[in-house]
Amino acid sequence: MTGGASGLGGAAVDMVVAAGGRVVVIDLNDEAGRAKEAGHRGAVRFVKGDVTVEGDVQRAIGIAAGELGGVHGLVNAAGIPAAERVLPKDGIQPLEHFERVIRVNLIGTFNAIRLAGAAMASNEANRAVNAASSSTPRPWRRSMDRSARPRTPPRKGASSP
Ligand SMILES: NC(=O)c1ccc[n+]([C@@H]2O[C@H](COP(=O)([O-])OP(=O)(O)OC[C@H]3O[C@@H](n4cnc5c(N)ncnc54)[C@H](O)[C@@H]3O)[C@@H](O)[C@H]2O)c1
Repeated sequence: MTGGASGLGGAAVDMVVAAGGRVVVIDLNDEAGRAKEAGHRGAVRFVKGDVTVEGDVQRAIGIAAGELGGVHGLVNAAGIPAAERVLPKDGIQPLEHFERVIRVNLIGTFNAIRLAGAAMASNEANRAVNAASSSTPRPWRRSMDRSARPRTPPRKGASSP
């Protein structure tokens, strides 16, 4: 479970454990990760690590494979918010902000997929769920156009970009 120390990933950890599973959590948040491990003693192992770093993800997979009975699923929930205007009031969004979002939400997700995929390749059945996204509540239209007025929300059922 990447990003399993808190949020959506943390809730997914609770669900897997409640269903009898065991989980390795990899997350940057040391305090929350340790608390999650302590709350599910024996069923959860916490690895402080970054999903964009190959060695960190390998370490988590090594614990799952060697100490928790194998790797049978992957949930990618590590993610950072991407809701920021392209053209904020006082300038232009720094390119590094977008690069960081792509690095964590996209490259980190792919990193975990490929490494967990290798660990699961010989299993009969595996599951991978990818939650990390750049979804944002609503400012998508105005972020592209400083002069745009708030618009009527899309009709229920209408497709949105
Ligand atoms: N919450 C939702 O309803 C929802 C719905 C769909 C998609 N998402 C997406 O799922 C992802 C997680 O959402 P959330 O609400 O649980 O966020 P969150 O901030 O509550 O949790 C994200 C977790 O990922 C960890 N993390 C961040 N960068 C990391 C990195 N480089 N390596 C390891 N861990 C890292 C954080 O420490 C945190 O514990 C986001 O990308 C979000 O856009 C969330």
